[in-house]
Amino acid sequence: MQSLKHRRKRGASSTIQMEERSLIDEGDTILNKKAVYEPSGSQRCRQLVCSRSWAVTILIVMGLFLILIAIIASFARPQTLPCTPLNTVTEAATTPAPKVQTYIATNGKDFPWKDIRLPKNLIPESYDILIHPNISQSYFKGRVIMKVRVISQTDFVVFHIKNLNVTHFDVKSLKDGEPIHTTEYLEYKEGQQFYIKLGRSLEVDEQVEVTVKFEALLVNKLVGFYKSSYKLSTGEERHIATTHFEPTDARGAFPCFDEPQLKANFTLNIVRDKQHISLFNMPLKKTEVYDNTGLLLDNYDTSVKMSTYLVAFVVCDFANISKTTSDGVKVSVYAPSELISQADFALDGAVSVLEYYNSFFGVKYPLPKQDLIAIPDFAAGAMENWGLITYRMTAILYDPKVSSLGNKQWVATVVAHELAHQWFGNLVTMEWWDDLWLNEGFASYVEYIGADQINPDFHMHDQFVTEDFLTSMYLDSMSNSHPVHVPVDNPDEINEIFDKISYSKGGSVLRMLRSILGQSKFKAGLTHYLTIHKYSNARTDDLWMALQDANPKLHVNIKAVMDTWTKQMGYPVVTVKQTGTLLSLTQDRFLLNAAHTNDVVPSSPFKYKWYIPLTLLTSADNETHQLTWMNMTSAETTVPPNIKWIKANSGMNGFYRVNYDTANWKHLIRQLMDNHKVFSAADRAGLIDDAFNLARAGLVSQKIALDLTLYLVKEVEYVPWKAALDNLAYIESRIIYKEVYTNFKAYMLKLIMNRLTALQWTDSGSHLEMFLRGHILMWAVKLGNQPSIEKGKQLFQQWVHDHASIDPNLKTVIYMTGVKYGTEEDWRECLKVYEETHVPSEKQKMLMSMSYSRDTRLLNQYLGFSLNTSKVRSQDTETVINSIAANPSGQLLAWRFVQQNWDTFSERYKGGSFGMSRLIKGVASHFSTQFDYDEVKAFFAKRDAGSGTRAVKQSLEKIQMNIDWLERNEAEVTDWLNKHSS
Ligand code: BES
Ligand code: ZN
Repeated sequence: MQSLKHRRKRGASSTIQMEERSLIDEGDTILNKKAVYEPSGSQRCRQLVCSRSWAVTILIVMGLFLILIAIIASFARPQTLPCTPLNTVTEAATTPAPKVQTYIATNGKDFPWKDIRLPKNLIPESYDILIHPNISQSYFKGRVIMKVRVISQTDFVVFHIKNLNVTHFDVKSLKDGEPIHTTEYLEYKEGQQFYIKLGRSLEVDEQVEVTVKFEALLVNKLVGFYKSSYKLSTGEERHIATTHFEPTDARGAFPCFDEPQLKANFTLNIVRDKQHISLFNMPLKKTEVYDNTGLLLDNYDTSVKMSTYLVAFVVCDFANISKTTSDGVKVSVYAPSELISQADFALDGAVSVLEYYNSFFGVKYPLPKQDLIAIPDFAAGAMENWGLITYRMTAILYDPKVSSLGNKQWVATVVAHELAHQWFGNLVTMEWWDDLWLNEGFASYVEYIGADQINPDFHMHDQFVTEDFLTSMYLDSMSNSHPVHVPVDNPDEINEIFDKISYSKGGSVLRMLRSILGQSKFKAGLTHYLTIHKYSNARTDDLWMALQDANPKLHVNIKAVMDTWTKQMGYPVVTVKQTGTLLSLTQDRFLLNAAHTNDVVPSSPFKYKWYIPLTLLTSADNETHQLTWMNMTSAETTVPPNIKWIKANSGMNGFYRVNYDTANWKHLIRQLMDNHKVFSAADRAGLIDDAFNLARAGLVSQKIALDLTLYLVKEVEYVPWKAALDNLAYIESRIIYKEVYTNFKAYMLKLIMNRLTALQWTDSGSHLEMFLRGHILMWAVKLGNQPSIEKGKQLFQQWVHDHASIDPNLKTVIYMTGVKYGTEEDWRECLKVYEETHVPSEKQKMLMSMSYSRDTRLLNQYLGFSLNTSKVRSQDTETVINSIAANPSGQLLAWRFVQQNWDTFSERYKGGSFGMSRLIKGVASHFSTQFDYDEVKAFFAKRDAGSGTRAVKQSLEKIQMNIDWLERNEAEVTDWLNKHSS
């Protein structure tokens, strides 16, 4: 039995070799040109009609054309940008075509399958992939054999392809091993689909094999199968080939049924040079000689049943370090050999988290290995491919001598997040992307549990409130938010929802549910969910049902409660009114700008009412919190007599805001002044954030919110400070060009002075104290505190002379001060270090520091670099532009730059990318005037923002909010600051 199996597999791989060779020998073009397909009844290979000589000619003509364009562009580009009026919009781009679905195939014929989703009559069972990347020539060729089962009778096959040139296909029945006659084949580019019409109907349960040969460019595009490169310290450039498939780019690497519920087993055979290694989701089975040119063929074990978006393979020349978990899983980190010394922290963290999750989830990690690999060019932070997690360099490498604790925490967080996906996402996958939150919300919550396991000193759980909870509340208080569960169809829509709602609100509502159920019931439910849906898919309802079934005695109807949080957007504000010992509790949807949005808000199936677990803490309580359910209605409850204050939502576990009558707000303010420690740090952060947001919505006066900050002179903890500084930064951005800004600065300096004096420019204290020091020093410098500026400048010069002389945790503020108050020479020093350093976290800090310059000439140069891949990696384009946009001196330059280069961006993000929405929000939402609003609106009215469509709406809504904020609050805030600045 054993030997038979072995023989069969060997036989299979030699067939693959032959086929691959014939594919290459036939001299097909690598051009992904419009295919001219010749429908034919024959079962022979169908070849793309395009000879090598044609291809070469076309390549040469295209190359010359591109060079010509580049030359024209370089002469045409204005050399000194500020000469052009800042508000001139280049109207070169044409009005976007109205989005009418047309279904025209590449050959001009009607495409018969008219749905963005694949037909349901076939399901893939396995993929045998052979892939041959030619890294130096920047193309790849491949062949996939898809074994498919027939679910219902059909006479055609539709699968996905994206930018692949199909050079051959055939279909064979596994019933009799006979080829199946094919009569027509069409590609529909917009839908990324390929259609094959069969000469006969397939019967239910019949298995067929669809074999497709293909080829495509291997370029640095950050999605699909792409090329990435890095430099050795000698300056020598090395190239690697790697993948990123989520959500819809597996189809860019091989033809496949690219939907998450179509799980299958994958086998990979990959061709590589001797000097390279290859990696796949599964362990290497064997390597054989591929041909007489010295190429090798790596054969891999077949994967478990999984979704296409989780497949990954890499060809590189990296070094690795490994350890084995107590359960026998081999964990390895791969990175360029000169950087592998920075991988220890990630490796140790991954081992400890993997061991911990095994017991926490109650289900064992099923693969024999887990690789983590640092990829030089990577669009996201990391990607959870099963058994082969890919990371951006800064998310995995940490050098204790050079990197900061912030960098360290980020590595721990990303490692914990991606490992959480090995269960939530990989083992149990959302059935369709409308439930993306089941993946990302879970990982966003569990990453805190995992990172806390790596290092409890990080105090991860305290940070949840400011990092995820409050930030998602902010986005969700706009009318252009979306429900956690959201219908999506095409790649643009799917990419668009990798946002704060799916991640942070998703994580926050799970945290709320955990607080309702308690840890052990919550965990039991998760284990049950993972057990019953493993190697399969789930919908949101399946999660609620698993949690309910695992806790039969529970009195809460989980689905009824949670539907109100996941199926409608937004969240409530609970108003608490006290009459003696009686409390009346009412709920309304919280909108930051209700006045401007009421008419555009879509209706909700729950009429914007929620099941709210309202917890109360009063001045009479010690630790116990009273729970009152508000079941999509108002409620009443009682409190002890003669209490001084009430604080609802204790621990900030519930996803709602709370408003009180003025008397209670005043008592809360007094309590904070007298002894703020009666409230937890999370509650202090929550009180501040609620007050500022209620004030922005016009529900309490600005005076109450600002009065709440007065106690901060005594605050020593990071979390409340972070909440306060984020809110005060909002006010700062609104009034930065106004006369009152002087008073704002004076007040802020007064507020931070105690902390500034206590924390100093040292490197001592707890993890969160270090974080707080960073923020306080940044503010001191920003507010113009002269001693801080001088100290920062002095430390910057010290760094210029000796890069090892400053503390890693002070670097961000030192670089910022050095650049902001420094010379062009200082800026160029950062550029030099940016280009030379081999520590990714340092490169990242340099990237950020250069954006702090006040010199518009340098900022403009820097904007130019952001699209020049020989200067800035394309993964960092948005970071550069957005950080320049966040600098008041660069705001208009960045917005203008994006408009000017719109066609480039639009081309880059075509076909779905989450980068587009980040870019749009980064450059278009800081404005506060009607003039800017009109300009942003006019610009996008004429353009298709693709996956940034919702981001455009959200940006416009933010600008509107900013305008309204000034109208409503400027006078009151000015008055308050006048009174409190001295
Ligand atoms: N699954 C995502 C990667 C991803 C992001 C794919 C966007 C497609 C589009 C991954 O698990 C992820 O969420 N990564 C985060 C890091 C995390 C710590 C929040 C990221 O890339 O920012
Ligand atoms: Zn994730």
